[in-house]
This record gives sequence, structure tokens and C-alpha cells, in this order.
Amino acid sequence: MIHIKTQADHDKYTKMARTDRDGFWREASASFFWRKAPKLISQGKLGEKVTWFEDSLLNLSENCLDRHMASKANQTALIWEPNSPDAPSRSFTYRELKREVEVFANTLKKLGVKKGDRVVIYMAMIPELMFSVLACARIGAVHCVVFAGFSAKSLSARIEDSGAEFIIISSGAARGAKCIPLKGIVDDALMMSPRVKTCLAIKHTDEALSMKTPRDVWYHEASIGVSDSCEAVSVSGEDPLFILYTSGSTGKPKGLLHTTAGYMVYAEYTFRNVFQVQQGDLFWCTADLGWITGHTYLTYGPLLSGATTLMFEGIPTWPDASRFWQVIDRHQVTHFYTAPTAIRTLEAFGLTPFTGVALDSLKVLGSVGEPINEEAWQWYFENVGRSRVPIVDTWWQTETGGIMISTLAGVTPALPTFATLPLPGVEPVLLNSDGKEVATQAGEGALCIKEPWPGMARTVFGDWQRYQDTYLKAYPGYYFTGDGAKRDDHGNYRITGRIDDIIIVSGHNIGTAEVEDALDLHPSVVESAVVGYSHPVKGQGIHGFLICSDPSIDRDKLKSELLTLVTRELGPIAKPERFQVVAGLPKTRSGKIMRRILRKIAEAETKDFGDVSTLLNPEIVDQILKAEIF
Ligand code: WTA
Repeated sequence: MIHIKTQADHDKYTKMARTDRDGFWREASASFFWRKAPKLISQGKLGEKVTWFEDSLLNLSENCLDRHMASKANQTALIWEPNSPDAPSRSFTYRELKREVEVFANTLKKLGVKKGDRVVIYMAMIPELMFSVLACARIGAVHCVVFAGFSAKSLSARIEDSGAEFIIISSGAARGAKCIPLKGIVDDALMMSPRVKTCLAIKHTDEALSMKTPRDVWYHEASIGVSDSCEAVSVSGEDPLFILYTSGSTGKPKGLLHTTAGYMVYAEYTFRNVFQVQQGDLFWCTADLGWITGHTYLTYGPLLSGATTLMFEGIPTWPDASRFWQVIDRHQVTHFYTAPTAIRTLEAFGLTPFTGVALDSLKVLGSVGEPINEEAWQWYFENVGRSRVPIVDTWWQTETGGIMISTLAGVTPALPTFATLPLPGVEPVLLNSDGKEVATQAGEGALCIKEPWPGMARTVFGDWQRYQDTYLKAYPGYYFTGDGAKRDDHGNYRITGRIDDIIIVSGHNIGTAEVEDALDLHPSVVESAVVGYSHPVKGQGIHGFLICSDPSIDRDKLKSELLTLVTRELGPIAKPERFQVVAGLPKTRSGKIMRRILRKIAEAETKDFGDVSTLLNPEIVDQILKAEIF
């Protein structure tokens, strides 16, 4: 185990990781329970297949649960706060959580799930979601959690891509005043994906629903009489642990594959050192388990470290905008980790929601998912942190498995809007437009990583070629993150945002191609292009440019039909904010849309479009500028 407690430790370990990389990660892997300890640490370099701890044998759920039985069996592992503040919260000690996971694992086994099988999970944020993930890990099945805001079509696409024949769901999801009938969405998805043989449903909300036998099985029935002891299976270090889908610049979402030992070591190392959680602390990560943050910092990181984690089913603005602060006070949360979009949403409600809350249990605040602007940072610091609590701005990705660049709470200094320094063992570089490393300390460029790290995704599931094309080809020998960044004189990194065709709306990554494909399905839309623009709350909003067969089409009707279409195809998170009907799109001679120009138009710029001489149709820019925005 590596515990960085001082700036001097940070310097020492940074150096050690550079001179003896394997020695560094061997030390980070030392305190786990290995059924066979790794002799091999890392193999391969960026550009080829990389492995970590490949010759080891272990089980991740055993490391999250059984390993703590000797010293923490009666410590709370998980506190669950329900959507409704009037409903009772639930809590589980490590012993109780282990038991729940073992019953769940045995139920999965009874229903025929085997090691290596992919299991899609589509659920509300309830404890059973965490049980199901850990139960998969216990029996060596590969979990594939799909955020329960995705449409039936998106769910089906993920089922097909992962090859899953098994899905775990909750009947519904309560989110604020709304109740989302998940089972109905799943039924639609399974019409498109008949490959699914079993749908295991947890009863959560109360709507009437139909169960299709023998496919659909209630958990409360299937788990009757199942043993509460389930021996964890041994898996090898590079056996797959989970698949998680994320949007790509082009084409369908990519299923990033994370493997067992490297992910485990990286999740624990980053959790321990970034957040500096101590005995008795309570860690609250507000992310849904459907995203990587929910995997690494709601579930695996805290449990591997033997910490107490809080899971929240609801939303920050219901019943009112004081909900987060009420929950912090009620449970005495010490570490609060959320996204800038939530901070900006709450900022808009002013200071009244803070009336009567103390927030004095807080020790550390975190931010993740998108760049945090200076104003939101200050607001967070002053009002939530009461100007006394450090903020860690953590930069990382689904692909990186865990945090890569961040302040370490109370150890290294924070700097508003900067993720600051890479964690020891992480080697970021900035590459200029010639693909050369920016040699000066201060500079700007494409953010790449130079050395492999244990938490890195190993491949796009079933598509190594796509993994290479997306991450390894742009700058040979480096991992390309898709982000741009600046570095100051002290080596602090500030992430400036995506430099590829991904738009981050409220912290969710959305590929332009996915949205365009959905818009193009509308019978009146001939061609479309979407770009991101700065949005005061969501970080970025989506602006759509449409070429329509009838340019005089009714705008209101068109907009409402398009939003319905995007919701159906992708889910509500991908809905564009605004549109323009245009006569054409700015294209290069090779037919490529010049998004650079569209981005400027969406940002309400009216001049300085740079060199438009390579455009096939430069006159179109003026026309687009005149088109009504609706
Ligand atoms: C962005 C989320 C600025 C970035 C963990 C990255 C950030 C993408 C930060 C990955 C941050 C994440 N500052 N930008 N602290 N954290 N990002 O895969 O563009 O959902 O590439 O992983 O979010 O999003 P993902």
C-alpha cells in the first residue's frame, strides 16, 4: 500500500515511479489479498497490449469484503439515502454487505450465470445495485452497468454489443418527483434483444407491471432458500471485471473493458491518496453507478479501502435545493464528491437552501467530470466548504479507471480551475500540433499519457482495432485522452475541454455522431450537424444545425418531434437545447463538416471564422448567421 501523507512523500513517490515503475506499483499492490501474489507487475508499452499483475490470482469482492472481516466486520460499509427524505435510510455493516452479496451471488449462480458471462445491469440507485455489481465480481461474471436514463434502444445496443444473456433490473426508479418505469423500458429493449434469456428484477417502485415467464424472475422469489455463503472464485489478474460504455467521436458507444487486478490496485491507490479518508469518515460520491465515477469512487475505491460509502438515490433539487446539504448534516458526511454541473445548478438557487444547515462535518470536497469554472469553484469553496475545506479537482476518464491528475487533499495545494499535479505513477505530457512534446514547463497542447498505468482500460470490448484507432494512433507511443490542457510554470495542469467531437453535457459524454444519427431519422431532416456551446449550468449545451426538405417547416413542431426522437433513440440526457434550420453546412472540399465554424456560430460569434478558403461553400456562413435559433 502506498500512502502519500506529505508533499515530501509526493516528491519521493513521483521519483520512485519514474526510476522503478514496477517497484512502485508492486508497493501499491502489497496490502491486498492475493490467492496467488503477482510476480509480474507490468508488461507491454503504450501502442501494444499492456498487462498488469497478469500471473496473479485473486477475487475483487473478496478484497472489498472478506479482507475486512477481521478488523471491520461491524463497521458500516454502506449507507443508503432514499429518494424521499421521509423514507428510512438503510445501512449495512461490512458483515451485512458481505452476506447480501453472497446471497445475490448464489442467486445469480442458481439462475445459471457463470464466470466470464456478461451481465447487464439497469437499475435505480438502490443498495441492490451495489450488491449485484459485487456479486458479479464474486463469481467472475463481467458486469456491464447501463445508466438507467438511457433509452430502450441504447440499452438494447449495449446488450447486443456485450453479448449478455442476463440482465438485472429494478422495477422502477424514483428520481425526485418522478418515477421512471424501468421494467417497461427493459421490455421494449428485450423485444429488440431476444438474446436475453433471464431478466432478474428487484421490486422497488410500485407500478403495475407484467412479468414474462420464464424470462422474468423476481429477486425476492429467486433468492428464497439460497445460501448466504458463497465462496469467491479465483480469477486471474487480467480477467475482465467490467465493461462500461462511453460515447465516441464517431459511431456507436465503445464498451471499455477493465480487468481485475490492475483496476483494483489503481482504484484503491487513488481513493486513498486523493481523498485521505480516515477511520470514522463518511465518503459520499453523488455519481450514479452507471458511470465510471460510481464504479470507482462510490463502490470499489471506498470498499477496497475499508471506508464507509454513502449512496443516494435522489436528485439535488428535490424536494428542494437544500437536499444535498440536509443529507450531509443528517449523516455527518466528511467527504463530498460531485460534478460542476450539480454545483452550478445549486448555485442558481442562491443561499437560502443553506439556512439551518451546519455542514461542519465536511473535511474534503471533490469535483469531477468536466472543467470547473472559477465562479463555481469559489461558490463551492465558500458556501459548502465554508472557506476551510480543501477542494480536489480530479481529472480522469472512463478509460483511465481512476483519477490521474488531482490535488491530494490536505497534502498538495489546490488551485482554482486546475486539476493541478499528476498522481505519482502517472506521466502526462502535452503534445503540440506536430506531435512533439511541449518541452517547456508552461505550455498548452493535447493531453496524452506517456507510460501505462494499472487502471487503464485494456481494449474496447471485442474491438481492439477501435481502441488503437481512438487512443493510440493519434500520437504513436502515447495514450491520447481527447482533452486539451494547459500547464503553468509549476507543472500544474488545467484541463480546457474536449478537442474531439465529444460534447460534455451536465458531465455526460455525448458523441456528435450519435445525436446526428438520431436527428437524421426525422423524415424532414436531410442532414444535420451538432456542436457544443457554453451553457451556464450544464457546462455545454447541444446546438443542432438542420438541413430540412421543407425550409419553411413549423419550428415548434419540428423541435418537439426532434426532442422526442432523441429521447427515444438515446435518452433525455442527449437532447439538444436549440436548433437552426440552415440551407447548407460549411464543408471542406473532401466533404467534411467544418465544426470549428459551427462551434463559433453556436457561441454567438459573428466574425473571425479563420481561414474559410478551404470551404467548398464559404457563402453558407453568412446564411447560417441569419438563420433563426429556436
Ligand atoms: C472530462 C469521468 C476537466 C474530460 C470521470 C474527460 C474533466 C471526460 C474532469 C471523461 C476535470 C473529467 N476537469 N474535465 N476534473 N474530469 N473531465 O469518461 O473531458 O465520463 O476526458 O469520466 O470528462 O468523462 P468520463
